[in-house]
Amino acid sequence: MQLTLDTKAHDESRQGEVFTTKTPDENRFVKHFYIESYGCQMNFSDSEIVASILQDSGFGSTRNLEDADLILINTCSIREKAEQTVRKRLTEFRKLKTAKPAMLVGVLGCMAERLKAKLLEEEKLVDIVVGPDAYRTLPSLIEEAGTGQKGVNVLLSRDETYADIAPVRLQSNGVTAFISIMRGCNNMCSFCVVPFTRGRERSRDAHSIVAEARDLFERGFKDITLLGQNVDSYYWVDETNNKTVSFAGLLERVALIHPDLRVRFSTSHPKDITDEVLFTMARHENICNYIHLPVQSGNTRILQLMNRTYTREWYMHKVDRIKEILPDCGITTDVITGFCSETEDEHQDTLNIMKYSRYDHGYMYFYSERPGTLAAKRYQDDVPDAIKKRRLQEIVDLQYQLSKQSNLQDIGKCFKVLIEGNSKKSDTDWHGRNAQNKVIVFPKETYNLKLGDYVMVHVHDCTKATLIGKIVPEPMH
Ligand code: SAM
Ligand code: SF4
Ligand code: F3S
Repeated sequence: MQLTLDTKAHDESRQGEVFTTKTPDENRFVKHFYIESYGCQMNFSDSEIVASILQDSGFGSTRNLEDADLILINTCSIREKAEQTVRKRLTEFRKLKTAKPAMLVGVLGCMAERLKAKLLEEEKLVDIVVGPDAYRTLPSLIEEAGTGQKGVNVLLSRDETYADIAPVRLQSNGVTAFISIMRGCNNMCSFCVVPFTRGRERSRDAHSIVAEARDLFERGFKDITLLGQNVDSYYWVDETNNKTVSFAGLLERVALIHPDLRVRFSTSHPKDITDEVLFTMARHENICNYIHLPVQSGNTRILQLMNRTYTREWYMHKVDRIKEILPDCGITTDVITGFCSETEDEHQDTLNIMKYSRYDHGYMYFYSERPGTLAAKRYQDDVPDAIKKRRLQEIVDLQYQLSKQSNLQDIGKCFKVLIEGNSKKSDTDWHGRNAQNKVIVFPKETYNLKLGDYVMVHVHDCTKATLIGKIVPEPMH
């Protein structure tokens, strides 16, 4: 599966996708690394930075585990299940290492940060443990590990943004890409491990972001997603003129690169997304009308326990405001069900807010207690598993209906679609996305179109996940 073909920049359920930095001159490398990434899009983006650092220190990439001198696994800690998946994979790597003892195994990312050197005790055959802010030290840690010592660096930083490292974007579709604009998170939602694994929030130099976006556009990319755990709190001070750049300002700068460059962003915290951002989106046709606005719960008491800092009413007002300023905006969400002490009535509030918001899509989870988080320290994880699962099923079933309804409402409409590849099912069909982030599949017919072209598509049918259409004559480019 290709990294940049994924349409959901914020789906940490993606697991184990491999992407390679293989280049035509790959043979010049004597040593090779293999990297596997788990977790959110930020982690996948980090793997591109790691690939760049390793290439600069003489490692080529390989997609074959057997050819690797170094196996890296970029890990996620967001839920217990995510960590279990990584441990299972490490057991498989252990077998390979037994057969090839000189091969090194490294754990990167959030699990490395959470467990630190403990990981070396728990997973005996791991040689290197590196946290998300320490990737620049990978080459020296690899060297150390090569001499038989264990290499560990889990120092978090207040200013590392890897702004100067050009990510290696191979295996991409050449049309869509992700750009990290900030790292860390200061929010301390009580259920969440991210502030502990990723450290304090810091924003990347706006000039380097715009330069990266421009470079991508010049290389043919047409759709970029600005990434951060909480993009709306982006804040950067240009020391040359003492001017500050807000998220709205950054969005505008990127949008102005070219009208044919689509700009998206993820994730927005409901408390931080401002009217200024919404009006900036309204002003620029190429800033896609799509907002991922995680609600987590529809009940104010639970939201307070979660430390989300907004109420049910505040969230509903935010949804109203989005629909007022951007009437055709797609809205998606994240929901956690079965949080500590959640009652049936409070669960009903979540179902009701989902109906109110009419989400186009949702990522839905049951609560998984994470060691060290505020919730783990303060509250009891007291909703029984069977109830969590039943509530989750109700939420999933409702979202299924909402997604289907949202798609049915698009039948009869025409959308500007960016062609991103062949449809999964047939080479005679294209797939692409509209501004609202919905996937649209349509026959290629006899039009002479290619990846990265924009085309108008009339929607005549749908499934719950996909719109089905037909090209409207007179393709735009
Ligand atoms: N920064 C984003 C935000 O505030 O919405 C989300 C970041 S988190 C990587 C992605 C999603 O994982 C969260 O929105 C939440 O729904 C889910 N999540 C986080 N911690 C969780 C936990 N302990 N149990 C279950 N789901 C969790
Ligand atoms: Fe976690 Fe909350 Fe930060 Fe999102 S905003 S990463 S849920 S602490
Ligand atoms: Fe992302 Fe998982 Fe870390 S969701 S920030 S990789 S804990």
